[in-house]
Amino acid sequence: MIEIDRVSQIFQTSSRKDHLALSDISLTIEDGAFVSILGPSGCGKSTLLYIVGGFVSPTSGLAKMKGKAITGPGPDRGPVFQEFALFPWKTVLGNVMYGPRQQGVRAADAEAQSKALIEMVGLKGYENFYPKELSGGMKQRVALARTLAYHPEVLLMDEPFGALDAHTRTRLQNDLLNIWERDRKTVLFVTHSVEEAVFLSDKVVMMSKSPGRIRQVIDIDLPRPRRRTELLLDPRYQKYVVDIERMFDDSDEPASNP
Ligand SMILES: Nc1ncnc2c1ncn2[C@@H]1O[C@H](COP(=O)(O)OP(=O)(O)OP(=O)(O)O)[C@@H](O)[C@H]1O
Ligand SMILES: [Mg+2]
Repeated sequence: MIEIDRVSQIFQTSSRKDHLALSDISLTIEDGAFVSILGPSGCGKSTLLYIVGGFVSPTSGLAKMKGKAITGPGPDRGPVFQEFALFPWKTVLGNVMYGPRQQGVRAADAEAQSKALIEMVGLKGYENFYPKELSGGMKQRVALARTLAYHPEVLLMDEPFGALDAHTRTRLQNDLLNIWERDRKTVLFVTHSVEEAVFLSDKVVMMSKSPGRIRQVIDIDLPRPRRRTELLLDPRYQKYVVDIERMFDDSDEPASNP
């Protein structure tokens, strides 16, 4: 589905010229796979997602979707990024309905689907609120519903649950897994949580600190459908989490060249 072929990204900044953010990344993401990216802050995870999203074109190398070079954003790849503001002049319902309406879905159908998604992300009753009336975590959930509403083939999720309280986070992880198990969308998911990555993913990509390189790709061989309460007791799950956390610790010494 997605091929990342020897991608490097160099940023020119005022204070540090030529900062190598990604170095020679190659990665293949199969159709319907759930792939998480883990790595220290600043290692280039968001940059990699922006490249797949078509928001940044790599300095060298190529990202492809279904064999075609990615040259810009498209409705086949749905971003769920914190930086992506909701339309402030539209209500929650208006924001979620926007995509399906653009795709020509009849208003009544778009409204019904959007209301179901709003309920799924736990915002029933907030349909007529405006973004400025919501908390950060609530906006994040609207953003997720808005992206799901137009059915992109690939979901690009940059720490989508990072700002949520633990309870909501667990619930949305379960909801996302349910959606994924039903629709088998391809998901590229950036997180700082090892447990979240293991719980959700088929594959966990560990990146090394700046300049970002792929350190290891770990196949998560745990049965599906996954139930959080069962997995927490599963020694195989625990071993993945501990092994990956150890790998993190090994790479945790402060960057010598910030
Ligand atoms: N537009 C930009 N211009 C210049 N430098 C940038 C730009 N975007 C990112 N960088 C630099 O590239 C590196 C990677 O940034 P990126 O945001 O991809 O990291 P990250 O892994 O997502 O970090 P975090 O976990 O903190 O979100 C950082 O050193 C950052 O300073
Ligand atoms: Mg980031």
